[in-house]
Amino acid sequence: MQGVIEQFLKDEIGLSSDAVGASVIRHALKERMTALGTTDLHAYWDFLSGSRAERQELIDATVVPETWFFRDEGAFAAMAQHLHAQRRHHRPLRLLSFPCSTGEEPYSMAMAMFDAGFAAEAFVVEARDVSARNIAYAERAIYGRNSFRGRDLSFRDRYFEPVEAAYRPRNAVRERVRFVCANLFDLDLRSEAGRFDIVFCRNLLIYFDRPTQDRALDRLKGVLAPEGLLLVGPAESALPMAQGFVSARLPMAFAFTLRPEGAQPATPPGAVRPVRALPPGGTKAADRPAARSPAPAKSRPAPVAPAVQSPDRVAASLAAIERAANAGRLAEAEAAARSHLREFGSSAEAFYRLGLVLDAAGNAEEAVQNYRKAIYLAPDHREAMAHLALLLQRQGDAAGARVLTGRLGRMTNRSGT
Ligand SMILES: C[S@@+](CC[C@H](N)C(=O)[O-])C[C@H]1O[C@@H](n2cnc3c(N)ncnc32)[C@H](O)[C@@H]1O
Repeated sequence: MQGVIEQFLKDEIGLSSDAVGASVIRHALKERMTALGTTDLHAYWDFLSGSRAERQELIDATVVPETWFFRDEGAFAAMAQHLHAQRRHHRPLRLLSFPCSTGEEPYSMAMAMFDAGFAAEAFVVEARDVSARNIAYAERAIYGRNSFRGRDLSFRDRYFEPVEAAYRPRNAVRERVRFVCANLFDLDLRSEAGRFDIVFCRNLLIYFDRPTQDRALDRLKGVLAPEGLLLVGPAESALPMAQGFVSARLPMAFAFTLRPEGAQPATPPGAVRPVRALPPGGTKAADRPAARSPAPAKSRPAPVAPAVQSPDRVAASLAAIERAANAGRLAEAEAAARSHLREFGSSAEAFYRLGLVLDAAGNAEEAVQNYRKAIYLAPDHREAMAHLALLLQRQGDAAGARVLTGRLGRMTNRSGT
């Protein structure tokens, strides 16, 4: 009889009993039958079949709500970077967190947007989950210690207020997020086609079997805007490429863009910018004027980029750094970036990638230095600026972050991109 109920859960929400474990479903059944005062599984099935409310109760008891604020924080930095790098936005950006569980993910998205310099009216986060219990929790928005598991909790001081011996996101954050109880498989591809600039669908596909994963990705593909970004969980990062997505090459983000028919990915692997020599000792300020040339020191000549390099070799070497970083092999990615700099000389793209890798590895100080070098060499390097702004914000340097987000905003207004 449990098999019939497992099949019901698979048909209803896609859950695979092999993936989630039969004991999880057994436990949920026990919880529901105890609540209803029955030990007869057949009687429970009869009741379940005729009661929509009980079907929801069983789903609520079965799902795995595990989540926390800024889980896999590279994803949030990637979201901000992607949006900054995009064309001018003619309408508020639409971000989707599906499944949002108890709300930590969509609230983190709103906080990351503020950290990246987006105004409140510039975006909205739609947050959905099949569990009514999770949605009620998310709307109440009172979070204890378990929701704060990262190393860097400085966002809590900026965006939360203490309440009932716990924490609640401030109004400004809560107002950006709209919660709805919904099933991923009920996404309406006609009314919502291409609607979202960002889709977070993390740590759900792991609970599905392969055909169900494909079905889910098909839905997500349908609601993603043409230049949108899909973010999945680390254990799910092999799946989107088989479904018409390409890696967005954002280390530790597990992020993908749609592959247009016959077109190249938005950011070609190892796109190389013009090389400029670094001043001795690197750069100090991210907001150094673009036109100023570094004053060469008398005692130590500035390193000079090798005169001619094969673009193919440079691109292949940059792509190798990205591959290692995307796969989470940070030590290998760092070594590859350093050896790239030795072999090909200073370049914004190499410093930027090294910054990303060090940032992901928790080496904030060196990450800052490398982002600054990238911006020095390429003053229009939006991605480096967006990442540096987020990192400075996390370190509590709100003024430094504001300088960068201000520059990003001005660049967007000037160029219309
Ligand atoms: C492990 S949580 C992931 C939460 C968040 N995305 C994260 O990565 O931290 C999985 C969530 O998926 C939800 N879920 C399971 N099946 C679903 C479906 N078919 N449609 C929408 N949500 C679903 C569950 O209710 C649960 O809250």
